[in-house]
Amino acid sequence: MFSAHLARRAALALALAAAAATTPAAQSRSADASVDQRVAALLAQMTLAEKVGQLTQAGAFPGMDPAGAIRKGAGSVLWLNDPAQFNALQKIAVEETRLKIPVLFALDVIHGYRTIFPVPLAMAASWDPAEYEQAQAVAAREARAAGLHWTFAPMLDVARDARWGRMVEGAGEDPYLGSAMAVAQVRGFQGAALGEPGRLIATAKHFAAYGAADGGRDYDPVYVPENLLRNVYLPPFQAAAKAGVGSFMSAYMDLNDVPATANRFLLHDVLRGEWKFPGFVVSDAFGVANLVTQGAARDGGEAARRALLAGLDVDMGSNTFGQHLAAEVEAGRVPMAAIDQAVRPILAAKVRLGLFEHPYVDAGKLGAVLEDPVHRVRARRAAQRTMVLLRNEAKTLPLKKDVGAIAVIGPVADSKADTEGSWIVFGHQPAAVTVLDGIKAKVGAATKVSYASGPEIRRDIPSMFDQFTPGARKPPQAADAADAAFNEAMATAKAADVVVMVLGESANMSGEAASRASLDLPGRQQALLEAVVALGKPVVLVLINGRPLTIPWAAEHVPAILEAWQPGTEGGHAIADVLFGDVNPGGKLPVTFPRKAAHAPLYYARVTTHQPEGTPRYSPRYWAGAATFRFV
Ligand code: BGC
Repeated sequence: MFSAHLARRAALALALAAAAATTPAAQSRSADASVDQRVAALLAQMTLAEKVGQLTQAGAFPGMDPAGAIRKGAGSVLWLNDPAQFNALQKIAVEETRLKIPVLFALDVIHGYRTIFPVPLAMAASWDPAEYEQAQAVAAREARAAGLHWTFAPMLDVARDARWGRMVEGAGEDPYLGSAMAVAQVRGFQGAALGEPGRLIATAKHFAAYGAADGGRDYDPVYVPENLLRNVYLPPFQAAAKAGVGSFMSAYMDLNDVPATANRFLLHDVLRGEWKFPGFVVSDAFGVANLVTQGAARDGGEAARRALLAGLDVDMGSNTFGQHLAAEVEAGRVPMAAIDQAVRPILAAKVRLGLFEHPYVDAGKLGAVLEDPVHRVRARRAAQRTMVLLRNEAKTLPLKKDVGAIAVIGPVADSKADTEGSWIVFGHQPAAVTVLDGIKAKVGAATKVSYASGPEIRRDIPSMFDQFTPGARKPPQAADAADAAFNEAMATAKAADVVVMVLGESANMSGEAASRASLDLPGRQQALLEAVVALGKPVVLVLINGRPLTIPWAAEHVPAILEAWQPGTEGGHAIADVLFGDVNPGGKLPVTFPRKAAHAPLYYARVTTHQPEGTPRYSPRYWAGAATFRFV
């Protein structure tokens, strides 16, 4: 075990070293010089309003007016995912604006575009940077073919508190693994250098220490001393910068009482001063306007000024730069040189991407890219690599393919959306192979596969994303319907030789604004699991979830437990591959599983102090007993 751990570390060290050796800080000097010349020539012609436009990112949610924003000079657009609209908007930029500067289209392509890969936390469990690089290369290829230029990923926040919903978007609790996965993702999204065909501009987000929110409460302030910041929270970002990531995104929250959006220590001293980052920094959505809410600015003008002077280049969605920056310059409070400095890397990215020569997307080619069967093959292999076998007693696994009757039970066993997981691309219709589908496809014709969902699960409070999906918030299941579903599940289990319980969280229980105070299996899943296990049949528990769950009872009483995370489009196939022994589950945990939510934050790299682990006098087994499953 120990030597396997060392071997993995050594492999990661090699991957990191290789990344460092080929870092595309990277691109040839002469190419850089010609880009710089074009940018300088363009900049020399630009009015102040046109420059501020480049620093403005317009939103495209229903009710917003991206076309109008582009006419006013907006340099980029987010929250749109439609090739026809991209071309229509681009036409405005390159035909109607004075300097014909094309716009960048940006979106969150987090773990796949059409072919959805396992969520980032799962990909980290593969401990395989090469696999992750390939996954993000597929995501980039599909997204670029659809007309996108820029993704708001990778998310590099080290997360040690499982209550925090956004743990699902990152690589877990360890800065070293996080750094290796950061490099892999930057390479996957961007290729060897910005501008490679079929790739995107990547964004290292959320700079920095967003994952250390007080109490795991999303957006809450973070207090992190500089040594902890530099030892734990910054390394993945530094690795991404070194690997040539094109952009950074500032975080929402206050870091040590200074909002990250206007944090000059982060955006200027560390990022530009120490790391020599040449790209641009975008705020998180509405982050510049939020400076007023956060008490860091009296009004929009001060918010714009503070953010820009701290080192922020692009205002995502709030139009605070658009409304106030020019006046700040004219009043002498913001030097023109600071504006020019912010505009340069944005123009440079547009030049490198070849947008001045090829501003439009050829939507006719999209279908063939999305249908490329290689993408599904990679998604299945990636999912196989992410599965963690938490327990396997009495040779419960692998299951036999000729077993007489299998019951597949649980609220996430046949849910496409929950199998694809948290944060899929805006406008995408879930199309995953579910666990039920995967098992049916795997077994022989003589095996009977039956299914029951059991009682439904749902978030206690609505998700802020419900507003984008009509009908997303269903009314709660009535008590008698839930009882009937419970009984049906029991009857299904009784009639089978083997039971596969597929339990966990729905996709919207993790992600942004999805912190949980309890990490138990939601709803009546625990009761159902205990009742099914009491039947005395072989039971396998497959977990579909975006964070560690507190499963101390299962850890002792369920003979086989497979952590499958949210495994993406090919998830059901990959899970069946593992359950029936066609594939060896090679994943290892990138996070510690606490016994109770009250043990969070919990992580392996804890400094032993006054009464070390195992000291009998005080809190004898508090730490030792706090984890059901540990990091790797
Ligand atoms: C999230 C970012 C995301 C942005 C744009 C914000 O709410 O915090 O991670 O990139 O929205 O969708």
